[in-house]
Amino acid sequence: MAKIGNIELGDFPLLLAPMEDVSDPPFRALCKENGADVVYTEFISSEGLIRDAAKSVQKLDIYEKERPVGIQIFGAEMDSMLEAIDIVEQSKPDIIDINFGCPVKKVVCKNAGAGILKDIPLMVKLTEAMVKRTNLPVTVKTRLGWDSDSIKIVEVAEQLQDVGIQGISIHGRTRVQMYKGNADWKPIAAVKNNPRMHIPVFGNGDVNCPEKAVEMRDEYGLDGAMIGRASIGYPWFFNEVKHYFKTGEYLAPPSMEERVRVARRHLEMSIDWKGEKLGVLEMRRHYANYFKGIPNFKPYRQQLVTTDDAADIFAVLDEVIEKFTDVEFMV
Ligand SMILES: Cc1cc2nc3c(=O)[nH]c(=O)nc-3n(C[C@H](O)[C@H](O)[C@H](O)COP(=O)(O)O)c2cc1C
Repeated sequence: MAKIGNIELGDFPLLLAPMEDVSDPPFRALCKENGADVVYTEFISSEGLIRDAAKSVQKLDIYEKERPVGIQIFGAEMDSMLEAIDIVEQSKPDIIDINFGCPVKKVVCKNAGAGILKDIPLMVKLTEAMVKRTNLPVTVKTRLGWDSDSIKIVEVAEQLQDVGIQGISIHGRTRVQMYKGNADWKPIAAVKNNPRMHIPVFGNGDVNCPEKAVEMRDEYGLDGAMIGRASIGYPWFFNEVKHYFKTGEYLAPPSMEERVRVARRHLEMSIDWKGEKLGVLEMRRHYANYFKGIPNFKPYRQQLVTTDDAADIFAVLDEVIEKFTDVEFMV
């Protein structure tokens, strides 16, 4: 049974990864309904929070129904990170997560995200202070190291555990790799196999089918899987993995009716939450997966990702259900 602090997560929980402009409350709620055991917000800038930047503050909103939820923050300045904790606590998340893995240049050049992998003493010092600042469980999400010559994740994870984090999610790539190549789960297994580790170690990177989740659990012995890209436009992924765990068989894929129903709800919730303009815009990255593998779907997808008016998009979705209702999806 994996636990983050006092939060019991069952055997081999599935975590929705933090994803910028993706892991918002509507999407997190859908993933939760479909089997995610913990959901994380996208990364939120500690500097933005203390400046009270509207964009950062809005990202703190959470729906009750998505719990347990972790709010992820990033930064490298001690004072800002501590102040950010105080602000984040007001939103009453279940977990606070520190992003030590973002590879983007504008983040790493300030020593934040994966940038801090070049300064492990700072990483540990910051984490220790943050853990002391809050009563909430603190988790860390990070990568294997800065580059292939500096992978010290076993020692790093142990040090972070020793200053009080309650769980760690490790993306099996280095910063230099960005998203290239395959994720390497061996170093993550080495963290788990360190006899001094007692906090849950979650694997991340390339879990895109139920078999990979089984491999992560059975061959690598990890405590749970954090899932990102495979869930975009496909919140059913979590239940599909769980069904496979239980039965060794594939769950039947969602029907066309179900896909349209969930895509509609997703769009409605997005509009409610962030207004029509942004709600419509940020839904666009999901459609390709909601309607993946449907023959002759291209003109409809084109309309879904170029139409600005919400009413017109709902009309396209109505047309989709009429035209493609008999499409059968392969496992
Ligand atoms: C669109 C997108 C946005 C992301 N934003 C974040 C983020 O805000 N915080 C973070 O820790 N990781 C972020 N990531 C990385 C993912 O959390 C995850 O580590 C990575 O995608 C590998 O997992 P996957 O193969 O299951 O997608 C992002 C990834 C994607 C694709």
